[in-house]
Amino acid sequence: MQSRRSIRTVSETANETAGDFGIVIMAAGKGTRLRSTRPKVLHQVGGRALLLHVIAAAETVVPASRIAVVVGHQAEQVRAAAVVTGVQCVVQPQQLGTGHALQCVRDWYRDTGTAAPQHLLVLSGDVPLIRPETLARLRDTHLQKHAAMTILTAMPPDPTGYGRVLRRQDGTDNVDAIVEQKSLSPDMLRHPERLREINSGIYAFRTDALFQRLGELRDTNSAGEFYLTDIAAMLVHDGERVIAVAADSADEVLGANTIAEMMHLDAILRSATVQRLMAAGVTVFRPETVTIDAGVEVGPDTVLEPFTQLLGNTRVGSGCRIRSYSVVEDSTLGNHVLLRNGCILSGATVDDDALLGPYAHLRPGSRIGAAAHVGNFVETKNTTLGAGSKANHLTYLGDAEIGTGTNIGAGVITCNYDGVHKHRTVIGSGVFVGSDAALVAPVTLGDGSFVAASSCITEDVPPGALALGRSRQVTKADWAARKQAKKAAKDT
Ligand code: UD1
Ligand code: CA
Repeated sequence: MQSRRSIRTVSETANETAGDFGIVIMAAGKGTRLRSTRPKVLHQVGGRALLLHVIAAAETVVPASRIAVVVGHQAEQVRAAAVVTGVQCVVQPQQLGTGHALQCVRDWYRDTGTAAPQHLLVLSGDVPLIRPETLARLRDTHLQKHAAMTILTAMPPDPTGYGRVLRRQDGTDNVDAIVEQKSLSPDMLRHPERLREINSGIYAFRTDALFQRLGELRDTNSAGEFYLTDIAAMLVHDGERVIAVAADSADEVLGANTIAEMMHLDAILRSATVQRLMAAGVTVFRPETVTIDAGVEVGPDTVLEPFTQLLGNTRVGSGCRIRSYSVVEDSTLGNHVLLRNGCILSGATVDDDALLGPYAHLRPGSRIGAAAHVGNFVETKNTTLGAGSKANHLTYLGDAEIGTGTNIGAGVITCNYDGVHKHRTVIGSGVFVGSDAALVAPVTLGDGSFVAASSCITEDVPPGALALGRSRQVTKADWAARKQAKKAAKDT
């Protein structure tokens, strides 16, 4: 043992300073406790899949090509979500436990002829709040202390359910073993004060020390699984160094095993996002009521009213006001935009000083120009509304191109769909479209043209022309009195 260790130290010195690390993310588990048909690691907190949070943290330590994600349960779905980031995937065909997941990684290195890195950081796909700083500290401590295994630990208020880290009672950071909740003996349970430190499921290993012992793991425990955590006691038994590093806060190592735990993490993440925005000059009324995804950016002097939602890849400029019950997803808003109550935006772009709502619905491909107005119960889709143009009431604008300074009257409809194909409506600048007009696409209204109210427009209107597409009104004088007289005569 001693000779093996001294040889290793000599040969590893160069690599250790270079920090020869790879990262394994265990993400093959079923997530039984969620009772969901979706794989656990694809459930979202803070608007992003658990696994993508973990990959993002891992990528701050090593490049994506050095990250291996263990996939198993619904492997193809998890793989599809993971590979877009550039990571490798290792298949664990049967989920026989976290120790077995690492056996699959070991075999993968062997079978693909890939040289295993000197050290492995092992992360759990269901521990998503881990911070880059903490991973860096875990890596550095592991190297400095020449440990075979370094365990990231924490002291949450309630340790129930987690594996417990049993420290050696010698005042050092040495660990004797990790004991899973289910394996705690009655004797151990008599001393709860010694069972407060939990295993985060995040570790650094010297790869050779880990790989040599994986084959010795046994599944003779109440879960019938190969526990990665059993490696700790095996290393200690062989005289190897196993140490604990405590995370700064228990929050960042909380696991997401149940919907309730996920929602707790979701609240932590969203509250951190709101704090970040407020620190950057955004006013958020009743911050506990808003729903803002982790990557959303908002400029200073913007005001978010209660119960607003900013989701996905959304950017909001400065000096905007987003009134209550608006939901903005994957959209970009310029500066000084006013969203009145209840606007729904998805995949939309809105330029400076525009005014929307209440209850406007901007669907994907909507581009609203500077200072344009989109009023109540107006729906747009794949449509450009030019600067200063207005569609204020009860309108559908789909597959339309509208110039600047144009007025779209109440109830105007672009009839873009003939039952088979979608067609475009082109409306120039300075156009006046009267209320209740139906514009049957494909159709073009030239600059400065007028459309009479209630017209059904099926042919192009040249610039400056007036188009009337309705039947002439017929008025019958004294019709009501004559009808009354007729009825009276019949009744007598
Ligand atoms: C695990 C640890 C426990 C620790 C806790 C922290 C073990 C035996 N226990 O328990 O000490 O306190 O994490 O969150 O490791 N996975 C696979 N393949 C499998 C089984 C699991 O890839 O065969 C993956 C899961 O997808 C998950 C991670 O490993 O991302 C942890 O598995 P999970 O079953 O959630 O372990 P815990 O019971 O939470
Ligand atoms: Ca877990």
